[in-house]
Amino acid sequence: MAKLIDGRVIAENVYVELRREIAELKSKGIAPGLAVVLVGDNPASRTYVRSKDKMCRALGLHSVKLELPVSTTQDELLARVQRLNRDPSIHGILVQSPAPKHIDEEAIVRALDPGKDVDGFHRENVAKLVIGDASGFVPCTPLGIQRLLIETKIDIDGAHVVIVGRSMIVGKPLALLLMQKNKNANATVTVVHSRSRDLEKITRSADILVAAIGQATFVKGAHVRDGATVIDVGINRLEDPASERGYRLVGDVAFDEVARKAAAITPVPGGVGPMTIAMLMSNTVKAARQSLPRSGALPATS
Ligand code: GUN
Repeated sequence: MAKLIDGRVIAENVYVELRREIAELKSKGIAPGLAVVLVGDNPASRTYVRSKDKMCRALGLHSVKLELPVSTTQDELLARVQRLNRDPSIHGILVQSPAPKHIDEEAIVRALDPGKDVDGFHRENVAKLVIGDASGFVPCTPLGIQRLLIETKIDIDGAHVVIVGRSMIVGKPLALLLMQKNKNANATVTVVHSRSRDLEKITRSADILVAAIGQATFVKGAHVRDGATVIDVGINRLEDPASERGYRLVGDVAFDEVARKAAAITPVPGGVGPMTIAMLMSNTVKAARQSLPRSGALPATS
């Protein structure tokens, strides 16, 4: 049976570090601030936005939660983003995806101040990830996956990482992050997706297999090599009248059969999810830190 990688415990370790850093920033007169914008009433998005707000408050971050009606226009949303760009109490801005159909999300992301883009979706941050410029923001889920692997002491350096899924939020940025030239990366990365030929043959050659395709239980035992590490990014709601909420959460991995083969695996919930929120908090603290004038940058007063 595979060892369970507990994202909740590892996220707690991240929060210990962050609390220290937040106290230091506050001693310099800065309370890191995060604005989360939700348009419409997607129930899953509401839950995510609420947990982000709750975590900000638990850490003593300044939190602004904007819940806008589904009737909000593109121009109104742009104006909100521009106001947040100018607000000095806000260091990070996140516009929750998916937005309603009439919203052009790409245009909204482009309007963000790249220095406040804690999601790492703005093209300036995407470019910095490609280049390997550490001043940029890396999307939270890939960053959380890397941290999970590091804290669990699973060697990424030289490993074959196979990522199932090519999204802009997970698959693509994770591939870029893990192929970087440093000891916490240096992976050989393969990205497979719905159109890949011989998908099973490729996933079976993975030392580390990441499932981020957005389909419940897509990755089966037959996709996994004995002894591999399996990271499940999926959060799929399956109707379940027997459960209190009327649904249960399942990942992109058929957990029981894969856990019998893998050496280590993340559960859903309690694996990648808590790390994504922890990395959002971490990116917000980084944004606040980078907003400080660098010592020596200001002209001396006489
Ligand atoms: N929806 C699902 N994941 C994310 C995320 O990481 N950021 C934003 N903005 N929306 C999401």
